[in-house]
Amino acid sequence: MTEAPAAVTDAPAADLPVVDGPRLPPSPRLPRALEALAFVAARRRNVIWLNRTGGRCVTVKIPVFGDALVVSDPALAKQIFTTSPDVLHNIQPNLSRLLGAGSVFGLEGAAHRQRRKLLTPPLHGRNIRAYEDIVEEETRREMASWPDGVEFESLEPMMRITLNIILRAVFGADGVELQQLRDLLPKWVTLGSRLSLLPSPKGPPIRFSPWSKLASYRRAYDGLIDTLITRARQDPNLENRTDVLSLFLRSTYDDGSTMARSEIGDELLTLLAAGHETTASTLGWAFERISRHPAVLQRLADEAAGEDNTYRLATIYEVQRNRTVIDFAGRHVAVPLYELGEWRIPEDFSILISLLQLHSDPDVYPDPERFDPQRFIDAKPNTFSWVPFGGGTRRCVGAAFSHMEMDIVLRTVLRHFTIQTTSAAGEKWHHRGVAFTPKKGGRVVLYRRATPLA
Ligand code: HEM
Repeated sequence: MTEAPAAVTDAPAADLPVVDGPRLPPSPRLPRALEALAFVAARRRNVIWLNRTGGRCVTVKIPVFGDALVVSDPALAKQIFTTSPDVLHNIQPNLSRLLGAGSVFGLEGAAHRQRRKLLTPPLHGRNIRAYEDIVEEETRREMASWPDGVEFESLEPMMRITLNIILRAVFGADGVELQQLRDLLPKWVTLGSRLSLLPSPKGPPIRFSPWSKLASYRRAYDGLIDTLITRARQDPNLENRTDVLSLFLRSTYDDGSTMARSEIGDELLTLLAAGHETTASTLGWAFERISRHPAVLQRLADEAAGEDNTYRLATIYEVQRNRTVIDFAGRHVAVPLYELGEWRIPEDFSILISLLQLHSDPDVYPDPERFDPQRFIDAKPNTFSWVPFGGGTRRCVGAAFSHMEMDIVLRTVLRHFTIQTTSAAGEKWHHRGVAFTPKKGGRVVLYRRATPLA
């Protein structure tokens, strides 16, 4: 898929193929400043507008990412996801500038492949079944204080549930450290999410600036991680532990080396930053959606009495399509020219695949605005047109883990509560820095069942 850049000699030799230079898709006719402002201030609506006016592949210049393509053409998206990671790197800058150089987000080539090999086993198959009890316990703990018949925001308790699950299942934290991480990390995530949209300062952060606050949270975090690692290494039960931290301590790269302490700290923070708000936001949307669809809700309640989860999973897939919380998967062109469909994209361009727009394609999803889990009963999600977790070698490593979490959280709530339906208009979209959430926090009214369903 790559080609050499335009020849620089006076004339190409007769026996060499003629090589063309860049060929970019059209650009919207907007002044640069307005284009940048529209992208920052109203990103979702801006992309819908770009799609309508410029087509499914447009050239833009935007803050932080610079020269970029916004792609919502399914064939081009498929090509991008399946292009070699040596040709397309991860988007630059990415979250690793906040999470640290040891984060998988910042790794490329062999280092990325090796880290994925280490990350994948703890977050898949038999291993994640070991976390189901933690998910149910944390959901029940949170549910104990829910008001009966009084409207409340589901998003906040979902944030606490997914945070506690990650701290226990991934960090292996308990006792004092669990409490301290519980207090510290939401502050880090909130501030980090806001700063993720701004350029990083060049030198050390100025005192009392938000960047220096973030650095002070990070120092406190590193101290807690050191304690957890030291304690895990001394734990006589380390071999039997199932948390991701102890799996990291036990695993080795292909050459027999182990993860450095700083890599473990960066990677655990990565799993938290990538997995906590995204899963909680999807759950917030799930409550927002199902409370507005009585027939869906009835089927979910009927199913929750038993062990089947076919309809619940279809509902989760449809929430992820209809209310996609991460709008883009991004890549960075790392070769002189990247041939994408009919276009030739120069080195250093960013490519933003609009996951949101791919999920609104009426050719793939008839009447795309309609919320209907039946779509995923009739057909399984397609790898390249159902992409809430991105695709290719960088596809979300926590996808199976988050599905397990969402499945068990919803099952537990449905078994213990009835959810009041509402005819209120759907909540608006709100961008929190990383994920899109329901603007009013996914408000619901629940009634505790006299006898739980199972
Ligand atoms: C509903 C929940 C989630 C959503 C919507 C989501 C979405 C995404 C997306 C869109 C990407 C980028 C993929 C790409 O560039 O092609 C990603 C990457 C990633 N996600 Fe998730 N994610 C979720 C949950 C989780 C969880 C629970 C974890 C871990 C516990 C996690 C860990 C990661 C990591 C480590 C990456 C980086 C992978 C790499 O660069 O190789 N995510 N996620």
